[in-house]
Amino acid sequence: MARRYTSDLGWNDVTPKSVFLNRRQLIAGSGAMIGAGLAGSVVHAQGDLEPNSWEDITTYNNFYEFGTRKEDPARFASMLTTQPWSIVIDGMVDNPGTYSFEQILEGMTIEERIYRFRCVEAWSMVIPWNGFELADLLARVGVQEGARYVAFETAFRPDEMPGVRLPVLDWPYREGLRLDEAMHPLTIMATGIYGEAMPNQNGAPIRLVVPWKYGFKSIKSIVRITLTDTEPYASWNAAQPDEYGFYSNVNPNVDHPRWSQATERRIGGGLFAGRVPTLMFNGYEQEVASLYEGMDLSVSF
Ligand code: MTE
Repeated sequence: MARRYTSDLGWNDVTPKSVFLNRRQLIAGSGAMIGAGLAGSVVHAQGDLEPNSWEDITTYNNFYEFGTRKEDPARFASMLTTQPWSIVIDGMVDNPGTYSFEQILEGMTIEERIYRFRCVEAWSMVIPWNGFELADLLARVGVQEGARYVAFETAFRPDEMPGVRLPVLDWPYREGLRLDEAMHPLTIMATGIYGEAMPNQNGAPIRLVVPWKYGFKSIKSIVRITLTDTEPYASWNAAQPDEYGFYSNVNPNVDHPRWSQATERRIGGGLFAGRVPTLMFNGYEQEVASLYEGMDLSVSF
């Protein structure tokens, strides 16, 4: 009879591959940043934040221009040409124009920001973004007196984006922020994750990240930024105003009409996998609550 090899360690004791990869890439990522002479400081990092793996972040996506299934962006977003890339910055600014991606990056400090990321669908991840503060870009183009909002627009390229053939949204994907939200130091324009250039499925070459708002506010693959004095069109808000507010701040006390927002499903096999309570403003309450003083957050949701 063959001898059986027994152990008191079960399958559950094996370090999940995602966690292992994760550590390695975190180290590789920060090394790359320092090697490139960039400011590799981890700003606003929180001790309890264990970033999701590269695999989680790049294979479970929402980018409807490439399809509505979570796996579609990873399969089809490689069709998007991201070089060359330019962004039109217009409206109430002193220096309107078409800026190449390279011009946009000139003089910007790329930092690593490890942020919680909470989708309105009630799943979440922790993502180590690389990017710069939107406030720095706005300062460079010169925001004019009277501007109160910032509007953003994603590329619309039917030849490269199979998902836009379906009328899921009124394309192009558009979003907006109040100017003070846009100027907040937590609001970044992200150009990478884990120290690598932004993968197409995550919004290459440049996207918005607003960590205290539901993920759909963090618009991808931006081609236009407009300063305006009126509340801009926002795709999800326009499509279903009862379900998706203009503000869409993460708020466990205000449920989506079709599901609870009190808890969220942490994607991945890490230490905090499973359902966890959702935090007010996604855990950034101290930093951003003052922006909404005096507002009824169940009405202006
Ligand atoms: N931006 C565009 N242009 N198109 C989209 O479909 N989806 C949003 C947001 N930005 C989306 C978008 C939603 S619903 C979420 S949750 C996040 O992107 C997902 O970002 P991730 O795939 O990098 O995690």
